[in-house]
Amino acid sequence: MPALKIRPVSSAVGAEVLGVDVKNLTDGEFDAVRDAYRTHGVLFFREQALSPEQHIAFAERFGDINVNRFFTPVDGHPRIAEVRKEKDQKINIGGGWHTDHSYDQVPAMGSMLLAREVPESGGDTLFAGMGAAYDALSDGLKETLEPLRGVHSSRHVFGNKGKATEAMEGRIGNAEAATQDAVHPLVARHPDTGRKLLYVNPGFTIGIDGWSPLEAKALLDFLYQHAQRPEFSYRFQWQPGSIAFWDNRATWHYALNDYHGQFRLMHRITLEGQPLH
Ligand code: OGA
Ligand code: MN
Repeated sequence: MPALKIRPVSSAVGAEVLGVDVKNLTDGEFDAVRDAYRTHGVLFFREQALSPEQHIAFAERFGDINVNRFFTPVDGHPRIAEVRKEKDQKINIGGGWHTDHSYDQVPAMGSMLLAREVPESGGDTLFAGMGAAYDALSDGLKETLEPLRGVHSSRHVFGNKGKATEAMEGRIGNAEAATQDAVHPLVARHPDTGRKLLYVNPGFTIGIDGWSPLEAKALLDFLYQHAQRPEFSYRFQWQPGSIAFWDNRATWHYALNDYHGQFRLMHRITLEGQPLH
């Protein structure tokens, strides 16, 4: 196998990791991969034919596994969430810009998604870099955002009558656990690098602490429009055995729902994070 190479795929977000077998990473290779993850926000690997046990073992090198309380697990593997879309299913999981687990008081560090079966075409995932999105704001707005805190929740998505709960009966469960809200800085420091990140997302941010709903909506809408600029994003095309390993603090993602009538199956392992400051 050729030597490990990290190839950035855009200036704002993402890098491809070439020349590695993630089942057999040396300590030196692991350090390089972990550094690249911190720098680029999402890493892409190709042709990694992992068993569920090997998937777990690779994920655990980065930290403790967080079991998502809403997703249906893979049969026999309670620590792996199944991200599945049936041929006749209309709605997909993650079909809008969001970051996972911002509704938790200690948001998960990241998720490692492994493709099992993908449509012939379609079903790509978009990623956006929240460090680049933050950097591109004016100094004036950066100063305004600095003391603000965003309010995040899972109720409107995973709770009783939540969007995902109603649309994906059977694939999403445990609605009664969607009771927690969390408040995080709107500009978060990356826990490992200290980089400033725009930490709000259209999926789970429901307001700004101390602001009226209308005031918050106006500012959040602007920030969402800004962060969605194409130059902050990258579009990843899957093959079976592809892995995307993203940092929830530093990126957003968006699962395209453009493959109706076709089946798609991914396995997701989520890793614990740290409190955000
Ligand atoms: C997720 C998610 C993206 C995809 O698993 O958190 O948003 O492309 N999935 O399936
Ligand atoms: Mn997601």
